Amino acid sequence: MIETAVALLKAGKLIGLPTETVYGLAADAKNDEAVKKIFAAKGRPTDHPLIVHIGSFEEINEWAEDISPEAQILIKKFWPGPLTLILKKQKQVSNLITANQDSVGLRMPNHPLALAVLHAFGSGLAAPSANQFGHISPTCAEDVLEELHDKVDLILPGGAADIGIESTIVDARTTPCTILRPGAITKAMLEEALQQKVLNNNHSKLKVSGNLESHYAPRTPVTLMTKTEIETTDLDGVFVIYSKIKLPKNTQIIQLSEDPKAYAHDLYKSLRQADHAMMRNIIVEKPPINEAWDAINERLAKAAAN
Ligand code: TXA
Ligand code: MG
Repeated sequence: MIETAVALLKAGKLIGLPTETVYGLAADAKNDEAVKKIFAAKGRPTDHPLIVHIGSFEEINEWAEDISPEAQILIKKFWPGPLTLILKKQKQVSNLITANQDSVGLRMPNHPLALAVLHAFGSGLAAPSANQFGHISPTCAEDVLEELHDKVDLILPGGAADIGIESTIVDARTTPCTILRPGAITKAMLEEALQQKVLNNNHSKLKVSGNLESHYAPRTPVTLMTKTEIETTDLDGVFVIYSKIKLPKNTQIIQLSEDPKAYAHDLYKSLRQADHAMMRNIIVEKPPINEAWDAINERLAKAAAN
């Protein structure tokens, strides 16, 4: 399976790649024709840069330069893992990958299959989440098939993604470092590692497609409500995602965990399942507002924004 994947990648084809966050749509990052296919398959505008995935620390310098001491600390502490670093790009990195910016997003995923493919391939893989542009990221191989059908040449089955939401993105060119997209690696974890403040920047002027208002969205409208609002709403024909409210027996519901890690693991799967139910609305109970829920609240706000 890994040999087939590598052969396809070397031939400029696209593969569905499991990672610990979400599944990616991977292509040879040094092959512009292959990278163009990623944008076409996703319907993604070309001004949204791609993350380059690498399998070894030696490859960092092929893609990035001027790596700050802070970036080095984060790499040592969190790679392989759900952290993407925005770094100054090496000259030879394709403008297709970076959307003509002078930075590159780099990440070393922590998934045995992804690492095996990266090691066997021996070079960087450009991989956005393997969904149609603006839609929910896939957290299992079946989701990738549903999103991309025959636009992908092979999907490696790597089981359900451990984390379930996309990596934390940190701009490591600024001092202090800036979080561009919250994720499983929280502000507190970054600050603990760096022994330094880290900034939140949810409205970056950088081209981060995750910054579009409506992103990670199911096709059914999503409404966020408090517990009280849900309890006093007509739930006929709606799908409810909630934590612990008692609802009428015939309501279509998914109950999610009160633990943010477990909640994140099931969030996209649940939104996808709710979307499949073809109801008129998906109501999601607003989770707590605190740092542990930052990444989840950000994804939910975007899912509800259209
Ligand atoms: O967990 C993840 O990061 C997954 C898995 C597959 O690795 N990938 C992922 O890729 O979420 P994507 O393309 O769906 O989201 C990556 C985000 C995009 O919003 C993109 O614009 C931003 O990272 N990005 C990539 N390179 C960038 C750069 N040089 N500067 C600023 N933002 C960048
Ligand atoms: Mg994405």
